Amino acid sequence: MTATILGSTAAMLAQLAPFRSDDAAGRTFWLPPGVSSEAAQVDWVFYLIYWICLFFFVLVVALMVLFAWKYRRTRAGTWAPGPTHNTPIEVTWTIIPLLLVIVIFYVGLKGYVNLIEVPANAYEVNVVARKWTWEFRHRNGATEANVLKVPRGQPVRLTIQSDDVLHSVFIPAFRIKQDAVPNRTTYAWFQADRAGTYQLFCTEYCGTQHSSMTAMVLVLEPEEFERQIAADAAWIDQVPEEQLHMAGFRLFARCASCHSLDGRRLTGPSFWETHDKWGTSQTLEAGTGTVSRVVDENYIRDSILIPQQDIVPTYPRSMPSFQGQLKARELDALIAFIRRLDEVVDRSGKPVSGVN
Ligand code: CUA
Repeated sequence: MTATILGSTAAMLAQLAPFRSDDAAGRTFWLPPGVSSEAAQVDWVFYLIYWICLFFFVLVVALMVLFAWKYRRTRAGTWAPGPTHNTPIEVTWTIIPLLLVIVIFYVGLKGYVNLIEVPANAYEVNVVARKWTWEFRHRNGATEANVLKVPRGQPVRLTIQSDDVLHSVFIPAFRIKQDAVPNRTTYAWFQADRAGTYQLFCTEYCGTQHSSMTAMVLVLEPEEFERQIAADAAWIDQVPEEQLHMAGFRLFARCASCHSLDGRRLTGPSFWETHDKWGTSQTLEAGTGTVSRVVDENYIRDSILIPQQDIVPTYPRSMPSFQGQLKARELDALIAFIRRLDEVVDRSGKPVSGVN
């Protein structure tokens, strides 16, 4: 039993110990594998402060226990008068912490400057945060929701905006975190040195679906990146007209945090609810009362572009406008997707056979 406890404690301590472990995954007890050019520097500062804290925690607690025992009251009624002043000790406990915080300030400032100084040759991606999706726009026009593709070994600058409330971009593997602030542009940069898939989180509480506001970062080899980005920019134009409703399935990623494909009621109506009402008359809450509208192409178009105008009763008025976010053909694809939903997915949201 004791051996087991000692064994597991030793294993835990071994995990706490490394500055950067050399195992294949490269992760430590506290941090995921660092794959960006700045990760080593960030981790170094983290572990410097960590070890200083740990050292003083152990020192203080050990002395406290030791003194409590050593100077405990042994006989009733006897006190030695305590010292009132000790210059050497007071100077020591002032000078040592002062030196430590100067060192911490210096390494922290140096790391901070590295993180805000974007290299001149950085590849730029526009990031738009919106309840509750991430949109990534590349300079060639390629736009993807919740998937950020970047080239390996090249600095990438994220230019970050929010359409509604505070969000925050957090990519733990790259050790970067930057708020997305409404009416302000912020930025962050990184250089990913290893191809792979990494997680991006929203790390500013932004409403009910905050926890699902995640994205994938795909670090691709440079040639592969160029190829994929070129394909992403043109994909919607290459979809044949009779396949346009299928293309809506890919665009659905932007809708998925608020609309379901399996009939579940989320922040907004399931696409099945809208699909099933196609061609029928629907009563909506307008600003001044109720209006009646037929669920058709124009209804969907307005719902996407001016969502605040009319709202399906019992749903919150929380959808942002996608005006300017979707190409005309993408809009057509989404409309066709809802109208012909039964040809693309089944009632549980799974693609029907023949669709991929
Ligand atoms: Cu967006 Cu939390």
